[in-house]
Amino acid sequence: MTDVTDVTGQQALDLDAADPLPTRRAEFRVPPFSGPPGGAGGPGEAAYLAGNSLGLQPKALRERIGAELDDWARLGVEGHTRARRAWLPYHELLREPAAALVGARPAEVVVMNSLTVNLHLMMVSFYRPTPRRHVIVIEDSAFPSDSYAVRSQAAFHGYDPAEAVVRLAPEDVLPYLRASGDRVALVLLGTVNYLTGELLDMDAITAAGRAAGAIVGWDLAHAAGNVPLRLHETGADWAAWCSYKYLNAGPGSLAGAFVHERHLADRSLPKFAGWWSTDPRTRFEMAPTVTPVDTADSWQVSNPPILAMAPVLVSLEMFGQTGMEALRAKSIRLTGYLEALLDSVCADRPARVITPRDPARRGAQLSVRVSGRDVGPVSERLREEFGVYTDTRRPDVIRMAPTPMYNTFHDCWRAATALETVLDGGAR
Ligand SMILES: Cc1ncc(COP(=O)(O)O)c(C=O)c1O
Repeated sequence: MTDVTDVTGQQALDLDAADPLPTRRAEFRVPPFSGPPGGAGGPGEAAYLAGNSLGLQPKALRERIGAELDDWARLGVEGHTRARRAWLPYHELLREPAAALVGARPAEVVVMNSLTVNLHLMMVSFYRPTPRRHVIVIEDSAFPSDSYAVRSQAAFHGYDPAEAVVRLAPEDVLPYLRASGDRVALVLLGTVNYLTGELLDMDAITAAGRAAGAIVGWDLAHAAGNVPLRLHETGADWAAWCSYKYLNAGPGSLAGAFVHERHLADRSLPKFAGWWSTDPRTRFEMAPTVTPVDTADSWQVSNPPILAMAPVLVSLEMFGQTGMEALRAKSIRLTGYLEALLDSVCADRPARVITPRDPARRGAQLSVRVSGRDVGPVSERLREEFGVYTDTRRPDVIRMAPTPMYNTFHDCWRAATALETVLDGGAR
């Protein structure tokens, strides 16, 4: 390809062989791909760079879910206490590994529901608007679900969302908090932006938000399993994340929530309750009122779906085995390599990488803006003709995320060479 001398992909293969963190690709089900036109094909498998959207399936999952199905078949209702992993306290198995993943204390974390549901449950407790202070700050390119969620919360409290929700470019958040922070009830930002891949400065924004007297929440959808996090130390009030992206727990899989320790024993916080909010030691006394527990578990509402929790447990085990620090180090190597290749492809074509150049200001994802082209067909050709999975945000952004758990330098090379061919309108 253009000015990168790796015409055959051999250099990429050499980088893979020499990398200090061996890929765990063989432990995942990678979509098959056969038929390499244009010399950019692969070894019977896709180059799957869409883990920022939906991570790949760990092979271990079938057996794990099967074990729960078997226990259910064998034990029926008795599985609640007698399954190999008893169902009643099953969610407790996820607590410590989930806390380790996001840099929290175990009591601060719970796996439950879906992401937007958790955003709402957190806002029930932490969006307490008053006429003087009711603004919610989000990013100008916030994921639509977050935008819909905060708008509906403002309306629920009787405020006009058009006035109460302030959308800011990331660089404008700190100045706004300094100038108008006394109006802000809640700051809710994506730690890694879904569109641009930008990683925000959680420390600075959290500190500024709290100094202004606001509550600071984080949407970690694109950060969990992507970058190391230190939620507790950062001082964030709360956070929520999904586990179907970098965490590979499957489509629509269960989400996580974090509530900072300083709020855990605050009995004055409003919460929506259900029988899983109450103390498990007295749950089956069937009392009409909740007996509170001073952990994030008290934000639970319903009994957890075990078949959906098994994949999260598998995922967290894999992250625990490899370690977020080692994954991040490899992620920086992979993304840096992909960036160099993409820069070379974009140099004489109407496309450019819009993700920040400093590895400290991004995670795995690189977003490429292709001017004057509908990126839908570009992404489709990459997938159908070259086995390169990317995803698009129309009209003009293609997102590629080499995820360090299963992507290789060779995947990056395949993606860049295929993009070059497709942008040039070649190989059909
Ligand atoms: C930043 C962000 N927030 C919210 C969501 C919506 O998540 P869910 O459908 O699991 O509620 C997504 C989904 O991709 C997301 O990327």
